[in-house]
Amino acid sequence: MTELIWVNGKVSKLSEAAANYEDRGHQFADGVYEVVRVYKGRSGGGVPFTLTEHLERLERSAEGIKISLPWRVDEVADEVRKVVDQSGMTDGMIYMQLSRGVSPRNHIYPKNIRASLYFFTRELPPVPAIGTAEGAKLVTVEDERWKRCWVKAIALLPNVLAKNAAADQGADEAVFTENGTVTECSASNLFTVGRGVVITAPVGQKVLPGITRQVLLDIAGEQGIPVIERNPTEYDCRCGEELFITSTTRELSWVSHWNGVQVHDRPGEITMRLHRAYQERVRREVGAMSTTLV
Ligand code: PDD
Repeated sequence: MTELIWVNGKVSKLSEAAANYEDRGHQFADGVYEVVRVYKGRSGGGVPFTLTEHLERLERSAEGIKISLPWRVDEVADEVRKVVDQSGMTDGMIYMQLSRGVSPRNHIYPKNIRASLYFFTRELPPVPAIGTAEGAKLVTVEDERWKRCWVKAIALLPNVLAKNAAADQGADEAVFTENGTVTECSASNLFTVGRGVVITAPVGQKVLPGITRQVLLDIAGEQGIPVIERNPTEYDCRCGEELFITSTTRELSWVSHWNGVQVHDRPGEITMRLHRAYQERVRREVGAMSTTLV
């Protein structure tokens, strides 16, 4: 597979593409992004999962920082599908970034600046079969992010520092906490289960409207699994019946450790049930079994 990049309508090899140093994305982190999962479809080619939902979130994020997407969502979706086919990628992801555009460095942006969009393809290793992966290890980090985390902004420094602090302690993910309650993780949403009820923080100032999160809430509704959207306390998370995190690239991961202490020794029943239903949804949407869906 060749990693291809599409930049404002032009396709080239990612390894040969050059960026403009005066793109405001570089100088001010003035932009937003998306990560879309691609699974192998029935015809053997890669099919992006929940592509429209991701592109609509990109548009909402962009509006949140006063950037207007210079293409229609359906036009971008067509381009994405074309580039996935051209690249030969079957299981992987699309990384997509929209910046305010290029102009001489100045905090004030010109009114007529044209936003710049790119996306590239990248293969990903298969998601382990449900129930076979080790549990994720989490550590808590004080949430020092801004109050517009519903915008999927490329300004990820607090997330990067938090995740590296977790990695330095041998953990996989950092959980952001605020006054003893939990918001989300550095690159995933968090869910706990207490008395059979799924609890997850509401989206908004401190929580990204995760696409995986939304698919799971829909599935929970269909299956009659009760859900409460409220910020769980650290106690809810550590002492709940089940704990899992979600994202486009990881799907669902059960959590085994919290700040170095084992909280679970296997994935919980609701976690596994939701994950199975999620993979069923993927199969329906992409039209076939993916190699990642063992
Ligand atoms: N991150 N919360 C944060 C802060 C995230 O960065 C992500 C995703 C999520 C989960 O959202 P979704 O289900 O739409 O992937 C929640 C991506 C995968 C990343 O930055 O690589």
